Amino acid sequence: MHTQTSSTDSANLKNSGHIKPTTQDPALEAMRKLSRRPNESLMHIPGSKGLPVIGCTFDIIKDAPAFMQREFKKHGPVFKARAFGSTSVYFSDVEAARLMLLNKDKNFSSELGWASVAGLLRTGILLRDFSDHRVHRRVLQQAFKRPVLESYAQQLNKQLRKGIESWPQQDTFKFQHKLKSLLLDNAASLFMGAELGKESDLLNKNFVALLNATVSLVRWELPGFAWHKGRQGTVYLRSWLEQQVDSRMNSDKDDFFTTLLKLSQDPESDMTLKEVIDHTVLLLFAAHDTTTSTICTIVSMLCEHPHWQETLREELSQLTTQDLSIETFDNLPLTDQFFNEVLRRYPPIFVVLRRCINEFEYGGFRIPANTQTNVNISMLHHHPDYWSNPLKFDPERFSAERAEHKKDMFQFLPFGGGAHKCLGINFAEIQTKILLFHLLRNFKLETPIGRRNKFTHLPMPLPKDGLPLKITAL
Ligand code: HEM
Repeated sequence: MHTQTSSTDSANLKNSGHIKPTTQDPALEAMRKLSRRPNESLMHIPGSKGLPVIGCTFDIIKDAPAFMQREFKKHGPVFKARAFGSTSVYFSDVEAARLMLLNKDKNFSSELGWASVAGLLRTGILLRDFSDHRVHRRVLQQAFKRPVLESYAQQLNKQLRKGIESWPQQDTFKFQHKLKSLLLDNAASLFMGAELGKESDLLNKNFVALLNATVSLVRWELPGFAWHKGRQGTVYLRSWLEQQVDSRMNSDKDDFFTTLLKLSQDPESDMTLKEVIDHTVLLLFAAHDTTTSTICTIVSMLCEHPHWQETLREELSQLTTQDLSIETFDNLPLTDQFFNEVLRRYPPIFVVLRRCINEFEYGGFRIPANTQTNVNISMLHHHPDYWSNPLKFDPERFSAERAEHKKDMFQFLPFGGGAHKCLGINFAEIQTKILLFHLLRNFKLETPIGRRNKFTHLPMPLPKDGLPLKITAL
């Protein structure tokens, strides 16, 4: 069974640091006090007013990257915008990204920054800070160590090959839906040792509700509203996990979920059952939604740029193995270039949300304590000082000769940076490359042209029409 091979290794998990409250953390205490204080005026920070009450919400929904570029041109790298019921300050240069993500003075809180989704993701790792975040992260990291990733890769080769073989050939089908359920099945299987049957569709539906709720305008707990649907979705997901607790406790499975559950029973550990459930929901959510967005964009761009489709096919076909192993990953420079350019132009997470605890100065502006301060990933990826012709889709900018991304460590941040840098960065790469390996070596991909305008921007880039795709065996 794959659960053995994808073992998170209980011994490792247990040794990875006991989940015990550390000695008082002054930064955490300061942050907790702060959340009850109101925001000071941001009148002195430049920014467009937008419409009464809703501010720039519709501009951001319509085309967030275009909005960021417009505001950057008008106001420079620091600007404010009101959207989704609150005003944030956006920071669009590498110095600000470095300051906020390295967070040396512990002045930027992720828990407060992402507070708008706390009603959905509760105590998940992203909603933790400083020493508390560190101890939880140390435990979760065990699920992404090299030997564990190697076993994930073995399983993914089997699962993705089988999944692709089950897709219709010659007939156009909605790629996004097939892909999303395949990736959710993979995540459930690898992180939970669960083979999803009929419940797969229902789980998927509830994850979609969760995703849509993250950007819902009105946070009313009333039937029909996106927020309500998302909250109901998380109730369903959590109760689905809770139903499995008893059987897991007595099982010899050693997947991530079961191992965390057993840890929560360890008298030496303070991790609670609620925390295990919250970490698992966030992990499953993060594991398949961002990757669905990325792979949909990759496939759509491969269809729009058939010469790149051919180039990647050639590179992947040069490998003589039946499966793609982790060792070969670094020998795919052209696939890397294409993957990186997709993440630069269309990052699934276009802003990293933080809130400052204390007042600070940046770029000549005083930023009051308790201000929502967001790292503007979308703008960093299109900043004219860091990229040539930034709006052009040009994978070769990542080639060894041009290496445009190497000017500064903080100009290209699709996976964030610092303490909260994406835990699944390697997993995302493995999953994407293995899927492309099995797909491109065996099939030609075609989709109606001129597709980019058919993608949403919020909550992340996703095809509005499910991405109609025709695959033809080569
Ligand atoms: C292309 C795919 C992905 C992208 C673009 C992406 C992007 C990101 C970004 C930008 C963050 C940082 C958020 C912040 O600092 O506020 C993040 C965090 C995170 N990601 Fe990903 N992610 C991807 C795939 C995955 C996958 C596959 C997993 C799990 C298997 C995952 C798990 C996580 C977790 C658990 C965190 C929170 C880490 C922490 O708070 O310490 N991500 N991701």
